[in-house]
Amino acid sequence: MSLRQRLLLDVALVLAFSLVVGALTSYWNSAKKIQTELHSAFVVGEQVLKDAVNALNGSPDPYRSLIGIIEQFNDGRHLKVSILDDSGQRVVQSHLEMPDDPAPEWFYKLFEVRSEATRVPVPPFIHGYSAFLIETDARNEIQEIWDDLGNSLFLIGIVGGLVCALIYWTVGRELKPLERLSRAMSVAAERDFTIRLDEKGPRDLRAVTRVFNHMTAQLEKAEASKTMLEVQLSMVQDEERAELARDLHDEIGPLLFSVGLDAAAVRTSIGDKSADISHRLDSIREAISLSQRRILQILGRLRTGTVEDLGLEAVVQGLVEFWTSRKPALTITTSIPEGGVNAELDPIIYRIVQESVSNAVRHGNTTSIDAVVSLDDEMVRVRVIDDGGGLKSRRAGHGLTGMRERVVSRRGTFSVGNRAEGKGTVVEAQFPKQDLQNNSQKTLRAGSVAS
Ligand SMILES: Nc1ncnc2c1ncn2[C@@H]1O[C@H](COP(=O)(O)OP(=O)(O)OP(=O)(O)O)[C@@H](O)[C@H]1O
Ligand SMILES: [Mg+2]
Repeated sequence: MSLRQRLLLDVALVLAFSLVVGALTSYWNSAKKIQTELHSAFVVGEQVLKDAVNALNGSPDPYRSLIGIIEQFNDGRHLKVSILDDSGQRVVQSHLEMPDDPAPEWFYKLFEVRSEATRVPVPPFIHGYSAFLIETDARNEIQEIWDDLGNSLFLIGIVGGLVCALIYWTVGRELKPLERLSRAMSVAAERDFTIRLDEKGPRDLRAVTRVFNHMTAQLEKAEASKTMLEVQLSMVQDEERAELARDLHDEIGPLLFSVGLDAAAVRTSIGDKSADISHRLDSIREAISLSQRRILQILGRLRTGTVEDLGLEAVVQGLVEFWTSRKPALTITTSIPEGGVNAELDPIIYRIVQESVSNAVRHGNTTSIDAVVSLDDEMVRVRVIDDGGGLKSRRAGHGLTGMRERVVSRRGTFSVGNRAEGKGTVVEAQFPKQDLQNNSQKTLRAGSVAS
C-alpha cells in the first residue's frame, strides 16, 4: 500500500471512529433533550388547558368554547389535545403539525420516548363530554433531530472530503522527489553515474537527494578512474607486447639466422669428412629452424588483438564495444575504409582514435562521438568529433603530445580544437599519401622473421 493510500485510510478510520462516537453521544443527548422539551411543553400546555377549562364556567356558550380550546392547540408541535365523551372516547382532537419530509420510521423507533398524558375534567354543567386529554407527541422533536443529523453529516462529508483531497494533493506533491529519486536510483543501478537530482522538496528528502548526488559523483569519479586505468593498462599491455615482439623479431631472429648460416657453412666445409660432425650440424640446423618457427608462433600470439593482426576496422570496432559497454548512453559512430589504410599508418590512426575517444569520454562528458577515416588521391584524413564540453585550456598532456608526435613522425599535420558549430571538440590528423606509400615497405610484419 502506498503512503498516500495509507494516510487516506488512516484519516477515513479516524473519521469513521469520530462518527460512531459522535453518533452515540448525540443519541444519548438527543434522547434526554426530547424528554426535557416534551416535559416543558406538557407542563405549560397542561396549565393553559386548565386555565381555559376554568374559564368555561363564565362562558356564555360553553360548547362553542370547548371547540375554541381545541383550536387553541391546533398546529402545535409537541402536544395533542382531545375532548373525550362520557365513555372516554375521543370526539375531537387538535391538529398536530406534521413535517413535510418525515424521517424514516426506524429513526422514530430508535427514540422510544415515553409519552406523557393527563385528563382535565370539563365542568359538570357541560353534558356529553367528560374531560380533555392532553398528551405529548415526540415526532416533531425527533424530526428536528433527523434534520440536524442530515445537516451535520453533510458538513462532515464536505470537511472529510476536503481533508482527504488535501492529504492526497499534499502527499503527492511532497513525495514527488521520492519518485524522482527512485527513478534516478534505477538509472544509477544501470551504471549511469552521471545522473544528478535538483535538491528541492521537503527538507528530509532534500538531505537524501544531497547524499544521492554525492554518492553518484563519487561513483562517477571511481568509474572514470577505473576506466582510465583499464585503458592505460590495455595500452601498456599492447605496447609491451609489441616491444617484446619487436625485440624477438629484431634481436633473436637475426641471431638465429646467422647461427643457421654458420652451421650451414661449417656443414659445407666439412663435407663427407666426418659423418658424426655432419650429423650433429644437421641437428643444430634443425633446432634453429624449429626455434625460428616457434618464434613466429610466439610473435603471432603476441600480436593477437593488435592492429597488425586484426586490421584497423576490427580493432576500432573493439574500441567502440569497449566504451559503449561501459557507457550505455554513449553513441560512437565510425567510418573506416575497408581493409584499413596501410600497415604503417593503421596503428597510428588507431592510437589517434583511441586517445581521442578516451579524452572525449574522460574530459568532455560526451554523449556522441564520430570517428571518420577518409582517403582521397592525396591525403589520408582522420577526424574525431565529440559533442562534449570542449577544451577548457590549451594544456597538452601525454595524450595530445603523443598523438602529435606520431602524426608528425609520418610527415602529417595534427590539430585539436573546439568545434566551430555546436559544442565539443575536433581532433584532426592528415597524412600525405605519397610519403606513406614510399615508406610502407619498412613496416614490421610478424611473418617476416628472418629465416
Ligand atoms: N575531447 C575533449 N574534450 C574536452 N577536453 C579535452 C578533450 N581532449 C582533451 N581535452 C583537454 O586537454 C587536456 C590534455 O589532454 P591529453 O590527452 O593530452 O591529456 P590527459 O587526457 O589529461 O592525460 P593523458 O596523458 O592520460 O592523456 C585534457 O586534460 C583535457 O583538459
Ligand atoms: Mg588523454
